[in-house]
Amino acid sequence: MEVYRDCARGLEERVGDLLSRLTLEEKLTQLGGVWSFELVEGEGFSPAKAAARIPLGIGHLCRVGVGTGFDPAAIAAFCNDLQRYLREHTRLGIPALVHEECLSGYTARGAAIFPQAIGLASTWEPELPERMTAAIREQMRATGVHQGLAPVLDVCRDGRWGRVEETFGEDPYLVSRMGVAYVRGLEGPEPRSGVVATLKHFAGHGASEAGMNWAPAPIPPRELREVHLPPFAAAIREARARAVMSAYHEMDGVPASASAELLTAILREEWGFEGMVIADYYAVDMLHAYHRVAADKAAAARLAITAGLDVELPVLDAYGEPLRRLVVEGKVPMAVVDRAVSRVLRLKFQLGLFEQPFVDPPDPALFDGPAHRALALELARKSLVLLRNEGGRLPLAREARVAVIGPAAADGRLLLGDYSYPAQAEMVGPASGRTVPTSSVHVVDVLEGMRGLSRGEIRFAQGCQVLGEDRSGFAEAVRAARGADVAVVVAGGRSGLTLDCTCGEMRDRAELGLPGVQEELVRAVAETGTPVVLVLVNGRPYALESIARVVPAILEAWLPGEEGGRAVAEALYGQYNPGGKLPIGFPRRVGQIPVYYRRKPSGGRSQFWGDYVDSPAGPLFPFGHGLSYTRFAYSDLKVQPAVVAREDTVTVTVRLTCVGPVSGEEVVQLYLRDEVASVTRPVQELKGFCRVHLAPGESREVTFTVDGGSLAFLGPDLRPLLEPGTYRVMVGGSSAAATLEGVFELV
Ligand code: BGC
Repeated sequence: MEVYRDCARGLEERVGDLLSRLTLEEKLTQLGGVWSFELVEGEGFSPAKAAARIPLGIGHLCRVGVGTGFDPAAIAAFCNDLQRYLREHTRLGIPALVHEECLSGYTARGAAIFPQAIGLASTWEPELPERMTAAIREQMRATGVHQGLAPVLDVCRDGRWGRVEETFGEDPYLVSRMGVAYVRGLEGPEPRSGVVATLKHFAGHGASEAGMNWAPAPIPPRELREVHLPPFAAAIREARARAVMSAYHEMDGVPASASAELLTAILREEWGFEGMVIADYYAVDMLHAYHRVAADKAAAARLAITAGLDVELPVLDAYGEPLRRLVVEGKVPMAVVDRAVSRVLRLKFQLGLFEQPFVDPPDPALFDGPAHRALALELARKSLVLLRNEGGRLPLAREARVAVIGPAAADGRLLLGDYSYPAQAEMVGPASGRTVPTSSVHVVDVLEGMRGLSRGEIRFAQGCQVLGEDRSGFAEAVRAARGADVAVVVAGGRSGLTLDCTCGEMRDRAELGLPGVQEELVRAVAETGTPVVLVLVNGRPYALESIARVVPAILEAWLPGEEGGRAVAEALYGQYNPGGKLPIGFPRRVGQIPVYYRRKPSGGRSQFWGDYVDSPAGPLFPFGHGLSYTRFAYSDLKVQPAVVAREDTVTVTVRLTCVGPVSGEEVVQLYLRDEVASVTRPVQELKGFCRVHLAPGESREVTFTVDGGSLAFLGPDLRPLLEPGTYRVMVGGSSAAATLEGVFELV
């Protein structure tokens, strides 16, 4: 038996042996992919197409769920057929690494659709995304898929960017905690049975100019290291993520996909990352065709692979013939190609693909069974954020006569994020030239959820569409509101990648009011005098100052997934008490952006008077904000010891008591401020949080620990620096309400 086939041999020995047997052409096929739809014939895999398209084998199979549109059983059969083809019809029988998206669920038709990432972040409970990705891991592996193109670890402070919904929000610490948990669940307990998590988009993609997708990200070096890189470092160090995806944008003249500093110096040399770096789709070609830092595909390939970008996706293009010629001509050393190929092969060995590339027919209950629906419901509930509740307008009595109004009330599709199966199929289907089904699992919409709980009369009037100028439905909506005790307006957008979408990838906005004529609808309904409860079903923080004045209660549902409507209804009727908190602040107006809590002492205000001429400087709803149907009291803050050294740990304890009428959940948040430092430091930095459930009258002590050494920041020379001095400790239920204060001294 050849060494590489012998599983008793060590990993490096097997990699080295296989590498030594590969021709240059065969090596390059390992550095590229093929779209799944290119290998489809009818309802399955086409050996004839494979023989024509990938005669030497292929490194990666792209987007098998969305590209085929198959159900899970057919995906498994397709992957098995591909692996059998590779084993039997290519010289060395190297299995393919199969990937799909999985941000808010495995994007395969019929697999559960969970809340979008921004909603997951709103739970402030990392254990939840970890459970979600553990379920996704089982689903993917059961259908023969080995790599998930998630999570998105971009830190985003700009609601104009359509992809803000894919992120865990504006704060590096919260993004890190969510990211680590997400990766742990996906990678699982051991490398062989895990799904390779892909951290993206490395790095700084969420900070593009004017919130425009793919635009340059003007990030100063210190901010890059202190805000945008830590989530990636944490997911690699703490959760052992095995892949990183390069990004489309440039920073200060260097495209991220050609950045040796990012892809090699920081990622490999500083952090010791040993996994695989893949290109965002077409990012290698973009170096030539978009950024113009390479004269042709060959130059693009050379830049990218030299910088440390191992795999070109989705198809082998610049890394094919153009790169082959460069190697033959001695312009790219073989060692550079070998380095990239060995990273790919190492993963394939680690995953056990040479021994077992096939999967058994999957159990249908794995994809959207009762346990998945229950988890989707729990996640959706916990992601709800009660933004406003004046006069205790919510919860509603179940006997109330309710007018349910708005374009998002009875359309389940609007509850799904841009990386859900339907949104992806709407884009990839037409692009592939194939017709793939765009519907997937049953989505409980808000109207259905409310009908399930109401004991009173419910009247539905859509009022208007998400977009467009059509106001012809207003009259009916107003009539419905007049005859009701309360009007629930479910407003929002459509998330996806196609032109009819208002949020999602490639769907950036210049205005952040409700899309279309929905604000006019809210006003028309409010003018009836019937109180309005606004439910937001959307992927971005809207700038709602003007309509917030006319609505006493606002519930943010984000893009809550397949059980979202049920969760919203439970919250509206008080069957569930919302306890989520904002992972990103809401501006009053779009012109304030960026408005974020982790600002510098001179940030977030305009000297001399502080505010704008035409607006307060602060956010409408700050980071960490979220109300409840009950009330919580904070007391007894203790910070011990008062003086600490680098190797010491500061313990912060606080007592939380439920002083309201019902049980509920509160997220206790710990912020720190370095009072004086040799470079400017943020006025507040989140350093800990804990979601606590309490019954009325119940009280609990919450404890946080902070290591002295973790207080280092980047000094004037960008090197880590631990400076003695005073630290202020702030604890509370939002960044703007962290009013219990203490101090300690670092010596
Ligand atoms: C996105 C990536 C995604 C890739 C493949 C790109 O447009 O930027 O996040 O993983 O497509 O679906």
